[in-house]
Amino acid sequence: MIKAAITAVAGYLPDNIVTNADLEKIIDTTDEWITSRTGIKQRHIEKDPLKATSDMGVEAVKLLCKKRGINPEEIDLLICATVTPDMVFPATANLICAKAGATKAWGFDLSAACSGFIYGLVTGAQFIETGRYKKVVIVGADMMSRIIDYEDRTTCVIFGDGCGALLLEPNNESMGVQDFILHSDGKGAAHLHMKAGGSLNPSSIDTVTNKMHYVYQEGQTVFKHAVYNMAEVSASIMEKNNLKSEDVKWLVAHQANKRIIDATASRMGVGPEKVMMNIERYGNTTAGTIPLLLWDYEKQLKKGDNLIISAFGGGFTWGAIYLKWAYDGDKA
Ligand code: UT7
Repeated sequence: MIKAAITAVAGYLPDNIVTNADLEKIIDTTDEWITSRTGIKQRHIEKDPLKATSDMGVEAVKLLCKKRGINPEEIDLLICATVTPDMVFPATANLICAKAGATKAWGFDLSAACSGFIYGLVTGAQFIETGRYKKVVIVGADMMSRIIDYEDRTTCVIFGDGCGALLLEPNNESMGVQDFILHSDGKGAAHLHMKAGGSLNPSSIDTVTNKMHYVYQEGQTVFKHAVYNMAEVSASIMEKNNLKSEDVKWLVAHQANKRIIDATASRMGVGPEKVMMNIERYGNTTAGTIPLLLWDYEKQLKKGDNLIISAFGGGFTWGAIYLKWAYDGDKA
């Protein structure tokens, strides 16, 4: 059976870095609080008001094609996971394709917040496994700074801007996506959402005045659900595939809070040496975290490595993927 394997990874981060010390100057917070409660030390924030999510996506897709030695015209489908599209419509995926020269691809955006990338990876994999397509690109891109209130210390310290992209291609050696478990529960919407800008509360002077275009998060409630669900789904996919902790080479977990990632690793029985972590440098880039992890750790990845990829986020949405890595990263 054809499997959908990741054959290249790339990423993009805006140059501008905002450290915890920078945030100490604008809100009532400390480096000690942010570091101990989240693990974050800095985040990348786009300063140029003319740049948007698609611009990050274009950079990542161009690098992806260059690394794999393909022309963007060879891409069949491009899925962009994001909650910060350039505009409500058209899809950011369409803008990325146009700007990157992926003229033969069709594409769409996928809205699943911090689980957007794993939803996208599973969706894209179906098109490869059926034999329909040969090259599917999954982009995870969020310019969170554009929907964050920099007077709200409970959210502004957490999020950053960033983007990652993966290429999926058919594999006949059983490398690639092996299994997945995905969930969603719209009851969680009450605890994590953006109040205005959609059909429920269209943009108006009132919605702007009342700061309704920013991320609203009940941190502790989201934290509890994230710890429980990300740990459980990661353990479940291991059990379902008869994987013991020693069989797992890497945990690739959404980077929302180091404490959530540590709890997931502990539930899976894997030590910190197997946990990909870059939250200290990028913060929570929503759909960007997982491809950015793979990009950062690519050189350490070996063909055949068993990866458990898991995420939890707004929706609520959560899930896990069991994937076999398809190439030696140090030769990429
Ligand atoms: O990406 C997917 C979805 N999102 C998540 O997974 C995020 C889940 N939630 C979290 O990661 C954590 O709940 C936060 C990092 C958001 C907050 O950490 P916490 O340990 O849950 O803090 P808390 O909300 O319980 O607040 C504890 C205290 C409060 O003060 P009082 O009421 O005890 O006096 C807050 O006002 O910390 C205060 N606080 C801060 N203090 C300094 C909240 N934010 C800050 C801050 N700096 N930035």
